[in-house]
Amino acid sequence: MDLALVDAQRTSARTPYVPRGIDFGCDYNPEQWDPAVWREDVALMRQIGVSLVAINIFGWSDLQAPDGSFDFTNLDEIIELLHANGIRVNLGTGTSSPPPWLTTRHPEILPVADDGTYRYPGGRQAWCPSSPIFRRAALALAEAVAERYGRHPAIALWHVSNELGCHNAHCYCDESAAAFRRWLRARYGTIAELNRAWGTSFWSQRYTDWAEIGTPRRTLSTRNPSQVLDFSRFSSDELRDHLIAERDVIRRHSDLPVTTNFMVTAHIRELDYWQWAPEVDIIANDHYLDHRLADPHGELAFAADLTRGLAGGAPWMLMEHATGSVNWQPHNLAKLPGQMLRDSLEHVARGADSVCFFQWRASLQGSEKFHSALVSHTGTRSRLWAEVQELGDVLGRLGEVAGSRVAGDVALLFSWEAWWAFDAENRPSSSVAYLDQVWATHRALREAGATVDVVAPGAPLDGYRLIVVPGLHLVRDAHAAVVDDAVRAGAHLLVTFYSGIVDENDRVRPGGYPAVWRDLLGIRVEEFAPLLPGDAVSLTSGTSASLWTERVVAVDCDVRDRFDGGPADGAPALTRRSGSGGSGDAWYLATLPDAHGLDRVVDDVLRGAGVERLAGAAPGVDVIRRASEDRGYRFIINHTASDAVVPARGHDLVTGTDVSGELRVPAGAVRVIREDAVR
Ligand code: GAL
Repeated sequence: MDLALVDAQRTSARTPYVPRGIDFGCDYNPEQWDPAVWREDVALMRQIGVSLVAINIFGWSDLQAPDGSFDFTNLDEIIELLHANGIRVNLGTGTSSPPPWLTTRHPEILPVADDGTYRYPGGRQAWCPSSPIFRRAALALAEAVAERYGRHPAIALWHVSNELGCHNAHCYCDESAAAFRRWLRARYGTIAELNRAWGTSFWSQRYTDWAEIGTPRRTLSTRNPSQVLDFSRFSSDELRDHLIAERDVIRRHSDLPVTTNFMVTAHIRELDYWQWAPEVDIIANDHYLDHRLADPHGELAFAADLTRGLAGGAPWMLMEHATGSVNWQPHNLAKLPGQMLRDSLEHVARGADSVCFFQWRASLQGSEKFHSALVSHTGTRSRLWAEVQELGDVLGRLGEVAGSRVAGDVALLFSWEAWWAFDAENRPSSSVAYLDQVWATHRALREAGATVDVVAPGAPLDGYRLIVVPGLHLVRDAHAAVVDDAVRAGAHLLVTFYSGIVDENDRVRPGGYPAVWRDLLGIRVEEFAPLLPGDAVSLTSGTSASLWTERVVAVDCDVRDRFDGGPADGAPALTRRSGSGGSGDAWYLATLPDAHGLDRVVDDVLRGAGVERLAGAAPGVDVIRRASEDRGYRFIINHTASDAVVPARGHDLVTGTDVSGELRVPAGAVRVIREDAVR
């Protein structure tokens, strides 16, 4: 992907989205409420400073009748009401969930799972991304909405569909198979080329005609991994095409910016947002803390940094998060007092200029009735409402932060296609997962006070002192070369195990892993030797490691640590090829050290690379800096149960007090210091 083009497209957006300070907003579903409640809602929104409201997200069945006619009476009224109260509208196209009359009339739009069974209406998003019937119907609705409101002064932003691919990312129906074949023809041109790319001489899979190729439905054994990988790419592209189609309809009627809410989060991996990002005028993300994970806040921090990466470093929108619990995890934890503010500002610290929630008023019916909201079932006589008011006040005081940027001097390479390839069936160990590797390095860097930009493989790496490549299993030749060039130009490099193993078709590069960076790292990995869950191995430094070992041969590097026991006994576990003639050091880590051991590795690497660190960062204490041309803002976010004492000088925008030298951030609190000096 040409990232220069990405920037050009983004800056050429006809009307940029400009938040009002740090926007405070929410999804609002007035169709669930009586008009009398609308007025109370809008009065309350004004009271707490809500500046942006997303509506018509699930409006289709209210707007359109089976005869195709539209009734905009309620939507007109809501928009006027918000407008009259100075609240800007983020207007949904409403196409996310087809109404029952449409799926009844056209059951062929329903998605099919990988076992060939249909997924039925009654929930949401019951549509196949490749269905031409659905596409036509959705575009007709988008067109009607855009035509009616395209120049309405209340509208500030367009919101295409909702979380495209949240439930329907992969459809295995015959229509999808036909679209997949078209996509493959465009990619490979000939059947011979496809056979080569997919390695179909393995297991007698050679194709003689396009018609023989289907979606990778469930098989008796495991499936062809290259086919599965291409199906993932195709599926992401199909939904991106849907986004583009709706966007282009909107653009015929409106100059306003268009976005859609991404799901940069741990449990959604089907959409390659590097490919989507250039298609929207501003990046927006939905993020929910995931208590199924060992470190939910670590995941939040990474997701926010990645979202900033998608925005090319520019400010982005937090389009949805929760005031408290969600309803879709096995155990839906309430937020602790103070946590909503802290979590909100963690996103702001990492570049968000909007803090929006799902949703305004908690539903009384439907699947999400036990999902938190700004106005809970209890109403405004509640602790939660007091916190909501406080959040509104604090966001009001943070207005001057809007537009400032985070600038890291560490680049961490992240890729959705590498995620798909890493976590595929038949990998060396099913306990080894891509995100775990990414999070492990991100955590160590964060706790060391480094500021990390998450970037796409192939993105320009100029200006970064350190490049970190955790578990980038699949890497394209051209993207590998960008890393080589950056190291030759002086950047330091840390690569962790299972990186650089396969090319873009999931074909292994032979001659010793990771062939693509073997010379750069000065090593050769001869054999993988993963560990059983719960097993550990010692390193000669005394560090304990788990999950993975491998038989590494040091070819042209210093060995900094070795396996002491285990299946790779005596082999290098950590190596460094010293830079010479202006190039940077290239480190390779062949295992997963425990947290303390990884901290030591990262500390050495950061020191060698001369990376600036923000003082005070520690486990559970994040320190991040946003800066504009003349101002710096230091965010200190204390997720721990003890007070944190950090060096800081300036004015705290959260409490309105001056700070000179040392700041005590109470347990669970957050502070935003406007710094006295730019640096
Ligand atoms: C998002 C979605 C919202 C709501 C929310 C609940 O996936 O966009 O409509 O369902 O999750 O957490």
